[in-house]
Amino acid sequence: MRRKIALISAAALVATGGAVMVANQASAAAGCSAKYTIVNSWPSGFQAQVDVTNLGDAVTSWNVGWDFGNSSQTISQIWNADKTQSGVHVNATSLSYNGTVATNGTISFGFTGAWSGSNPAGTNFTLNGTACTGGTTGGPSSQSPSPSSSNNNPGAPVVSLTSPTDGSSFTAPATVGLAANASATNSTISKVEFYNGSTLLGADTSSPYTYSWTNVAAGNYTLTAKAYNASNVSTTSTAVSISVTTGGGNNGTHVDNPYVGAKVYVNPDWSAKAAAEAGGSRVSNQPTGVWLDSIAAITAPSGSGYTTSLRQHLDNALAQGATLAQFVIYDLPGRDCAALASNGELGPTEIGRYKTDYIDPIAAIEADTKYSALRIVNIIEIDSLPNLVTNADGQAGATAACATMKSNGNYVTGVQYALSKLHAAGSNTYNYIDAAHHGWIGWDSNFGPSASLFASTAKGAVGGVNTVDGFITNTANYSALSEPWVQPSTTVNGQSVRQSKWVDWNFYTDELTFAQAFRTQLVSQGFNSNIGMLIDTSRNGWGGSARPTAASTSTDMNTYVDQSRIDRRIHAGNWCNQSGAGLGERPRATPAAGIDAYVWIKPPGESDGSSSLVPTGPNNPGGKGFDRMCDPTYTGNGRNGNSLSGALPNAPVSGAWFSAQFQQLMQNAYPAL
Ligand code: BGC
Repeated sequence: MRRKIALISAAALVATGGAVMVANQASAAAGCSAKYTIVNSWPSGFQAQVDVTNLGDAVTSWNVGWDFGNSSQTISQIWNADKTQSGVHVNATSLSYNGTVATNGTISFGFTGAWSGSNPAGTNFTLNGTACTGGTTGGPSSQSPSPSSSNNNPGAPVVSLTSPTDGSSFTAPATVGLAANASATNSTISKVEFYNGSTLLGADTSSPYTYSWTNVAAGNYTLTAKAYNASNVSTTSTAVSISVTTGGGNNGTHVDNPYVGAKVYVNPDWSAKAAAEAGGSRVSNQPTGVWLDSIAAITAPSGSGYTTSLRQHLDNALAQGATLAQFVIYDLPGRDCAALASNGELGPTEIGRYKTDYIDPIAAIEADTKYSALRIVNIIEIDSLPNLVTNADGQAGATAACATMKSNGNYVTGVQYALSKLHAAGSNTYNYIDAAHHGWIGWDSNFGPSASLFASTAKGAVGGVNTVDGFITNTANYSALSEPWVQPSTTVNGQSVRQSKWVDWNFYTDELTFAQAFRTQLVSQGFNSNIGMLIDTSRNGWGGSARPTAASTSTDMNTYVDQSRIDRRIHAGNWCNQSGAGLGERPRATPAAGIDAYVWIKPPGESDGSSSLVPTGPNNPGGKGFDRMCDPTYTGNGRNGNSLSGALPNAPVSGAWFSAQFQQLMQNAYPAL
C-alpha cells in the first residue's frame, strides 16, 4: 500500500522518569488488585497481559511479582517492563518511562511465553511486595500484621477449582457450573469466591463450594476460586481456561469489539512461509490478514497461483478453534490509482463485475451458517477513499487514474456495495474501512475532508453508518505507533517540531495519537460512538541498533527530529519495502483507548512491490506492475519530497515472499523477539 506523505509523533507515552524503587514504607498505604489475561495461546506458546491497579499510595517505580502455575511456563519477551524469572516466580519491573503510578492508576504490560502441559494463569500477585488482595494494608492508621511462630497458627487455605475442567468449551449463552474444594489447617474456611479474571462472579460460604454462572457470552475466560480462612488469609487456586463459542445461526450477538476474547485465525499459508525461515517459528503462529486481492482468490482454482479458497480458509479457521478471521477486500475497479505496484484486474468502469463476480460471492460465503460461530472481519479497500481526497485533482500528488476514479464514482459505489452486502451477510461480520495513516491524512487539509468523505460514503450504503464497525490505519505502511520525543507539542529552541522537514506541519506524528483523534472526528461526522480503530503494526516496530533510546540533545530543529524519531524512514511518504523496518507490536485486543486491536494485516515478508520491471510470466503470474518507489535507486517525486525511496533491493512483485525483508523485520522487531 502506498502512502503519500508522512510523519510521526508520539502518542500516549508518558515519559516520566523515576527509577527509585519505593517499597511499602511503614507509613505508606499499599495495596493492589491484579488481572491476568491470556490474550492468545497456541500449542507451545502464549501471549498474556497483566494489569495491576495500585490501590495504595502513588509509587514512582514498581515491581510486580507473581507465580506461574507450573515450571514449563517461561517468559520469552516482555514489553513495557523488565523481568526476572526464578522457577515459577516472576518479577516485572518498571521502565524509565512508566514507573510513576498514581493511586488507582493501572500498571499494564504484556509478554509472550512458552508452556507445555497446561497454561494456568499467574497467581499470588504482589506490587512492591504487597499482596494484591483488592484491599490495602499499612498507612498511618493501620497496623502491620505480626507473624506468629505458633504451631497452632492457622494455615493458609488450600483451594482448587474442580469444575469446570481446564480447556472445556461451552455454547453461548452458556451456564457454567463452578465448584471448588477448600480447606485450611487449624482453621475453617469462611468463604470461597469465584472469579472470571479479576471480576468477582459470586461466593459460597459452605461446602460444597459452588456457583452457577449463567448467560455467559461467547469468549475465552480464565476462572479461579479464592478461599479465605477464619483469619481472612486467602489463597487463589490455579486458573482454569474455558471457551464459550456462539451457537448456530446468524442470529448471534454482534459485539462492540470483535477482538475481545477472540482467538484469531492463523493463515497456514503465511505461517508455513514464516516457519520455513531461520528463526521464523518465533512469529509464525501470529494471525495475519488474508488478502482477497482478485476474483480468483475467492475460489483458488488450480493454476491461479492461489492455494487456499475463502471457504477453505473459513474451514481451516473452524478447525483451528479460531473465533475470528480477517479478510482484506481489495479488488475495486481501477485499484491503486496513485501507484503501479498493486493495480488490480478490474478496469475503471468494471463496477458491475466488482459487484457480481467479487463482492456477491464473498458475501454469500460469509453468510453460510456453517461459519456463524466465527467473527469475520472485513478490511475494506485499502487506499481507495484516501486517494480520492489527496490524489484525484488539484494536489501535488494527483494522478489521472485517481481523477478518473473520482469522477466516475466507482470507488465510492464499490465501497458502498461492499459495506452493504458484507454487513448484511450476518451478525457475525464486521466491516473496517481503510483510513490511510497519519503521514497521509494527518494534515488538517486532509483530515476533515477524509472523515467527511468516509461519512458520506457510508451513509449511502444500505444500512448507513451501522454497516461500519470501525476503521483501520497504517495498513501495509510503516508509520511508528508512538513517537515519544517528537510530538506536535515538542519544541526546539522554542519552536514546534511541526516546522521540521520531517514533520512538515503535520498535526500528527504517530499512528496511535492519529487513530484516536481520527476516531473522534469520525464520530463527529455521524459514525456510531462505539466504532473502534485497528492499527496495522506488522512492520512499524523500528527496533534494532538504529532505534533512538533518548531524545536528541541537538538544538538544531532538523537534527533534533531526525535523531529523535522512532520512524527511521528517509521520508514518511516512502511506502515500499522499507529498509530498516521491524515487526511492530504483536497482534492483541484493546491495547489503548478507542483501539479495538493491533493487527498484522499486511503479512510480514510479503513484498510491497518489485524493485524492477518483471515481465508477466512465472515470476509475475498476476501481471503486477513496477512502481519506482520500490526501486532503491529512485530519487523520488513530489510526494516523498524528492527523496530516495528507501526500498530494499531485489524485491519480488507485491504479495510475493521476500525472504530478505522478513529476516530484516525479525531482526529489527520492536518489541524484540
Ligand atoms: C498486493 C496483494 C497482496 C497484499 C498482501 C498487496 O500489495 O497487491 O496482491 O496480497 O499486498 O501481501
